Amino acid sequence: MFKKLKNKWKVNNLNLTLILLTFASGGSVCGRLSSKILNTAGLEKGIVWVSLYILLVTVLWPLCVIIISIPLGQFRFFRNYIGRIGQKLSGKRQLQPKTIIAIFASGKGSNALNIIHYFKNHPTINVGLVVTNKADAGVVDIAQEHQIPIKVIGPTDFQHPENLMTELKNRQIGFVVLAGFLKKVPDSVIAAFSGRIINIHPALLPAYGGKGMYGQYVHEAVLANRENKSGITIHYVNEHYDKGEIIFQAECKISPEDDTSSLEQKVRALELAHYPRIIEEEIKKQNLS
Ligand code: GAR
Repeated sequence: MFKKLKNKWKVNNLNLTLILLTFASGGSVCGRLSSKILNTAGLEKGIVWVSLYILLVTVLWPLCVIIISIPLGQFRFFRNYIGRIGQKLSGKRQLQPKTIIAIFASGKGSNALNIIHYFKNHPTINVGLVVTNKADAGVVDIAQEHQIPIKVIGPTDFQHPENLMTELKNRQIGFVVLAGFLKKVPDSVIAAFSGRIINIHPALLPAYGGKGMYGQYVHEAVLANRENKSGITIHYVNEHYDKGEIIFQAECKISPEDDTSSLEQKVRALELAHYPRIIEEEIKKQNLS
């Protein structure tokens, strides 16, 4: 049974334990609270008491589990869980379009992992494919661990992207997220996903962008020019490297002691803090328009 739940909710053992603990404590707290309220109101135990008790438990339960989920680190799970119950009850579920994301990545995949975690139990957005040009990249292990299909593309796929397009179509991909993808995405894919393909760049564009400007090279160039700040840029992807319209930027200060590795850490922290949220906002915007 636990294995089934783990697969259904896509969580590890620790999270499953914390989720079950939240369910149990939430249930018992709201049960006690409800009977205390009824007893304080001086109601005699009987059919009215039981009916009001059931009503109170139903109303208080979401509140109790949400509050308890915060210190146990399970807020996002319960927010989505209760949201899904609400949608089912109001019959709105069918009205909500589901968007399936493909993540394109070439590296160790820290952004990809963060995005996968963020959307794990999301009611309307799923990560449905990881595309990479490197069969041995860290992101491949991450996708496997999370049972997300992987598409490895080689030089011929860049010249003839029909195969990749078919894969994206078959998997019903509605939004493409570049997370450290170091090759140029084929123009036909960019055209097919126009306005629905975004990238994160580890500097404040338009500075320090363009071909060859990725990862560590960006930080080295920024430090070599003695800049006093750097940051991240999230932007739409067009046919020119790092030239698409900017959606969001966040900055970090550079101190004289910073080296490539400490600057990379500062920038990474911004990437992890903002990218999934901006993806979510963009998708919501698109689905409303
Ligand atoms: C990230 O810092 C991302 O901003 C950068 O590659 C890194 C990938 O790290 N992307 C670029 O430089 C694109 N020009 P990750 O594989 O650990 O997410």
